[in-house]
Amino acid sequence: MMTTTNQKMEGKRGEENHSKNSTLSSSKVEKMQDILDEDSTGGWDKCWEQGLTPWDLGQPTPVLLQLLDKETLPKGRVLVPGCGAGHDVIAIANPERYVVGLELSENAIKRAREVSSLSPNAKYFEFIETDFFTWRPPVLFDLIFDYTFFCAIEPRIRASWGTRIHELLKPDGELITLMFPTDDRDGGPPYKVSVADYEKVLHPRGFKATSIIDNELAVGRRRVCDIF
Ligand SMILES: C[S@@+](CC[C@H](N)C(=O)[O-])C[C@H]1O[C@@H](n2cnc3c(N)ncnc32)[C@H](O)[C@@H]1O
Repeated sequence: MMTTTNQKMEGKRGEENHSKNSTLSSSKVEKMQDILDEDSTGGWDKCWEQGLTPWDLGQPTPVLLQLLDKETLPKGRVLVPGCGAGHDVIAIANPERYVVGLELSENAIKRAREVSSLSPNAKYFEFIETDFFTWRPPVLFDLIFDYTFFCAIEPRIRASWGTRIHELLKPDGELITLMFPTDDRDGGPPYKVSVADYEKVLHPRGFKATSIIDNELAVGRRRVCDIF
């Protein structure tokens, strides 16, 4: 995890995996990539509509649960960009943290609302269907948690991601981002990432890493270098 004066980044190197499940997931990834190749914006909603969501763990990100357990997450307003089915949003929300889950996809938002419908913490989060790159919130955030969003966007718009992260965080806010995938690959999503890729777009905006650690809790699929 790379920690900055107001950010943290986290990564896990990939490993080979030839199991049947990973082959199935790989074919889903290929279909997803074909759809996004044809339509890089509207394609996300089509993927959700067709159930092509190989990134969806069906549960909160394990390392996030560990950070919550250790009580190391900042309190206040939290943003989860590209929140998908919202598992992380629901996990973070509590009386000390109000969480906004942003999603471009109408079908993802529908799924997130289904998943969260029985949550006892419902008054501490909301899902907003909008584009991360154009959305202007009324109040800024103390924490942004980015998991598989940076790697999902096209590398040519990463500088805009850096600008938006900077604009959306309070001056003393913190970014936690899990670096994935770090193997060598062509194309995406997920597009390959490196510490240098984050530094390139965050350093000019005044971010400083406060820690970079290996994510030992990355689940099997996220350890595999060729699939989500
Ligand atoms: C790879 S998925 C990750 C979802 C979730 N973070 C997870 O780990 O399960 C990326 C998500 O970002 C959403 N997305 C893509 N571009 C977006 C944008 N410009 N604004 C908001 N959401 C976006 C997609 O619809 C998709 O659900």
